[in-house]
Amino acid sequence: MRHFLTLKDFTKEEILEIIDIGLEIKKNLKKKVYKKELEMQTLGMIFEKSSTRTRVSFETGMFQLGGHALFLSNRDIHLGRGEPVKDTARVISSMCDMVMIRTFEHSMIEEFAAYSKVPVINGLTDSYHPVQLLADYMTMIEYGITEDAVVAYVGDGNNMTHSWMMLAAKIGFDLKIATPVGYEVDSKILEEVLKIAKQSGASITIGNNPKDAMRNATIVTTDTWASMGQEDEKEKRMKAFKGFMVDDLMMCLAKKGAKFLHCLPAYRGQEVSEHVLEAHAGIVFDEAENRLHAQKGLMVWLDRQRKL
Ligand code: CP
Ligand code: NVA
Repeated sequence: MRHFLTLKDFTKEEILEIIDIGLEIKKNLKKKVYKKELEMQTLGMIFEKSSTRTRVSFETGMFQLGGHALFLSNRDIHLGRGEPVKDTARVISSMCDMVMIRTFEHSMIEEFAAYSKVPVINGLTDSYHPVQLLADYMTMIEYGITEDAVVAYVGDGNNMTHSWMMLAAKIGFDLKIATPVGYEVDSKILEEVLKIAKQSGASITIGNNPKDAMRNATIVTTDTWASMGQEDEKEKRMKAFKGFMVDDLMMCLAKKGAKFLHCLPAYRGQEVSEHVLEAHAGIVFDEAENRLHAQKGLMVWLDRQRKL
């Protein structure tokens, strides 16, 4: 049985296999062909943070695969009142067939997985957002930008940045990161990523100058300057991130025809200008839709793995 906590635990071949299953399911869905591969299965979804895309995509995806999803807010379950993670894990995994968790500390999801009898999926922690990157890479494949991609990430060194780093290191494409001073990526994760990148040939660079990161980029991406849980730092961050907005001037530095990706929700006038977001709305909302298809691929893959 496998869990999906970070891309670190997956080979390039496995990542591509998951996305391939998702693409096949997507093709069938467009023809209204539903294969009920997860019939009678239940996905427990624990949310300790807000969500639009993650909730809708997992819930809809599970239904379309013939199963059922349970929305479990920490406001309603005993986890939020102090029931230990290891007890919650043993109870929920004795009734559900898979569990998806969105939480703060990454160690919470690791502890849950250690006590879970069923596969656990990371639906975002403070450190990683790996399911988003499955959708992002699916979108890149559909737009014909894969291993030769040069990705520029301009913004906060956060869970999205860490997951981009893992994806680049596994797949073997180039990633150039620019964050303001003091908002760099986690140094331990960077160390791990650079080791993996050595094997795949990916070039991953970090710096504090967004203009440097943009040069030759075929994909430009960013994320909110204040992630969930950092609401109190908003004002301070707005000042620190001055000059990091992806706007038309910034996009001009990238390769001609460069695409823009954003995991959403987007804050126009902060990490991205209204014009850049709307000019790239086609790909950004394809990326959002691909959350559904990529995660269906993931759930089917995890289910097949435990039946091997
Ligand atoms: N991108 C993403 O995970 O969106 P939600 O927070 O809406 O789930
Ligand atoms: N970095 C953001 C991603 C939201 C999908 C957050 O953690 O809030």
